[in-house]
Amino acid sequence: MSKIEQTLSIIKPDAVERSLENEIKEIFVTNGFSILKEKKIQIEKSEAEKFYKVHETKPFYNDLCEYLSSGPILVMVLEKENAVLGNRKLMGATNPKDAEEGTIRKKYGISIDKNSVHGSDSSDNAKSEIDFFFED
Ligand code: CMP
Repeated sequence: MSKIEQTLSIIKPDAVERSLENEIKEIFVTNGFSILKEKKIQIEKSEAEKFYKVHETKPFYNDLCEYLSSGPILVMVLEKENAVLGNRKLMGATNPKDAEEGTIRKKYGISIDKNSVHGSDSSDNAKSEIDFFFED
């Protein structure tokens, strides 16, 4: 069943560093997403640790949190029908080398860490991730 949904997207430090924000935003808009909110910020490692808490037992957790806090990021609330799934499809596989042709990570991703974008992986996580960055 289709439903209008919101999801959180992050353009990660590797993509911001290469000035890819506008190109990537254009891909979202071309694919029917509305960008409801956006802000460019740099977060502390402690905030990255909170954001990625679901991964805290993973071996890559520390590097992941170091990385997300290593430079400016662009966080956005995207809206579309079935936005969570649609964004995941548009981003492609976590590891850019496994990502399908035409996906954002295939086009811009450098490595599994520097994979250019993050997107919520479920509707519930989308709500808490949006609150994490945009609750005022
Ligand atoms: P993201 O969608 O932001 O969610 C967690 C991130 O952890 C993921 O993208 C990757 O950049 C990073 N990561 C690093 N190593 C791994 C791994 N082995 N499996 C999954 N994610 C990983």
